[in-house]
Amino acid sequence: MDVNSIREDFPTLRGDNVPAYLDNACVTLKPDCVINSINDYYTKYPGCGGRSVHRYGTAVSKGVADSRRSIASFLNASSVNEVVFTKNATQSINQIAHGMKWSKGDVVLTTDREHNSNLVPWLQLEQEQGIDHRVVASNEDNTFDLEAFEEVCSEVGDKLKLVSMSHVGNLDGVSTPIKEIAKISHDHGALIAVDGAQSLPHMNVDVQDLDIDFIAFSIHKMCGPSGMGGLWGRFDLLDDLRTIQSGGQTVVTTHYDSLQWAKPPARFEGGLGNFSGMIAAGVAIEYLAKQDMDAVHQHEIKLNKIMTAGVKDLNGIEIIGPEDARLRGGICSLLMHDLPAHDMAILLDEAANVMVRSGQHCVHSWFNAKGHVNGSLRASAYMYNTEEEAKLFSDTLEEIVNAFS
Ligand SMILES: Cc1ncc(COP(=O)(O)O)c(C=O)c1O
Repeated sequence: MDVNSIREDFPTLRGDNVPAYLDNACVTLKPDCVINSINDYYTKYPGCGGRSVHRYGTAVSKGVADSRRSIASFLNASSVNEVVFTKNATQSINQIAHGMKWSKGDVVLTTDREHNSNLVPWLQLEQEQGIDHRVVASNEDNTFDLEAFEEVCSEVGDKLKLVSMSHVGNLDGVSTPIKEIAKISHDHGALIAVDGAQSLPHMNVDVQDLDIDFIAFSIHKMCGPSGMGGLWGRFDLLDDLRTIQSGGQTVVTTHYDSLQWAKPPARFEGGLGNFSGMIAAGVAIEYLAKQDMDAVHQHEIKLNKIMTAGVKDLNGIEIIGPEDARLRGGICSLLMHDLPAHDMAILLDEAANVMVRSGQHCVHSWFNAKGHVNGSLRASAYMYNTEEEAKLFSDTLEEIVNAFS
């Protein structure tokens, strides 16, 4: 993998005063091709896809279709019609949660380290429709406990309807063995939805090989535009979902007293779309498809090893998850205990031009359960980060921690 040549593709990584951008678990930087694609839509063919048949409309329809095809191929989906454009992973998970049919007492299982986007929809359904949301406890080091999971599945029995779990946690970078989880879920008669927000940008994900039912993802974490995400689902399951946004585009036809729903994905894409976002999403995915995703993953681990070695013995700091960086991908998330995480993130930026995230990263439930309300400082690497940047992060953090102690 040629990191220097990748860096050339990103305007914020060229020129003077280039930051060490290590907040990629939140949102990634955008390459020229994505920015140009957004600009092209507004300057060359700012029309409406899927409806108008003039030149602008046709160019947009073609761009959106190409983009959907690129995403389907990236995921190894069996049909382009299994890919739904959403505005983010949150909307995708909500589409699953509020699109499925529930009976009182149906059980949904998550891990104990979920982003609020894969927790709040289930808590809401618990409040509003009486489903039973249960949490599978992780091992002490945050790795997944397959035995505990199997036990819970057996305990719940035929009430188990859905297992909804993150593939890689944004809290700590720890991955869950999704293929095994999918098999166990299916053996117990349940569906499996995967929160792929932190996996798809960083590793090969083949939805057919994993044998999963749904996956939600954030295109804005994959070099794509803000306000863009996606949902993949097996076609028969998507076809069985109620849309959470009905209106234009979601029907084949209407009468004053009846309607005929459109097939997926149109049924879930109500209203005029974010066309520049959809088209640029495909450009971003093509950009990723050109990379060797195994090499990207290994590169991130290499950087994480450098960050981990530099911070693991600092006073008052504790790595969330296993110490072995290979088990945490590109994420180095540090419990700050009594140290002021936000102040330290500001200092890292102002003193050393290093951008990281501080706080509870929308995983309040985990921090509350552990009593670590001060949150964490999280550095998250991507393919364009360098060894020097990883070292700059840990060296600067060491200086700051020493100054605070
Ligand atoms: C694991 C995980 N799930 C879900 C989300 C929510 O993604 P989005 O902002 O695209 O809705 C995030 C965002 O950080 C995440 O890291």
